[in-house]
Amino acid sequence: IKIKITDRDGVTHEVDAPTDMNMNLMEVVRSYELAPEGTIGICGGMAMCASCQCYVQSDHQLPEKSDDEDAMLAEAFNVEDNSRLGCQIHMTPDLDGLVVELAPES
Ligand code: FES
Repeated sequence: IKIKITDRDGVTHEVDAPTDMNMNLMEVVRSYELAPEGTIGICGGMAMCASCQCYVQSDHQLPEKSDDEDAMLAEAFNVEDNSRLGCQIHMTPDLDGLVVELAPES
């Protein structure tokens, strides 16, 4: 699927994300090096650091937040109504055309 990711410098990248590798959005960002090493995915995708926070700008229907994701976002900085943890968003065919922006580093 193709997704658009705006990095923390405000540059938008359209990238291919595989849906058959059980990848999440945080891993896609890392694989394209759209955020410096060590600034995203710090907890390894456990919904425990919020370094992967992003703002979802398209109106895709995303899976509900888990209690862990909700709890982490309740503590994180720069949280908006459309904030999600990238590591909790798995790449599935219905997310083709997803548009997200990385939250500022905090
Ligand atoms: Fe830590 Fe997503 S990588 S919350």
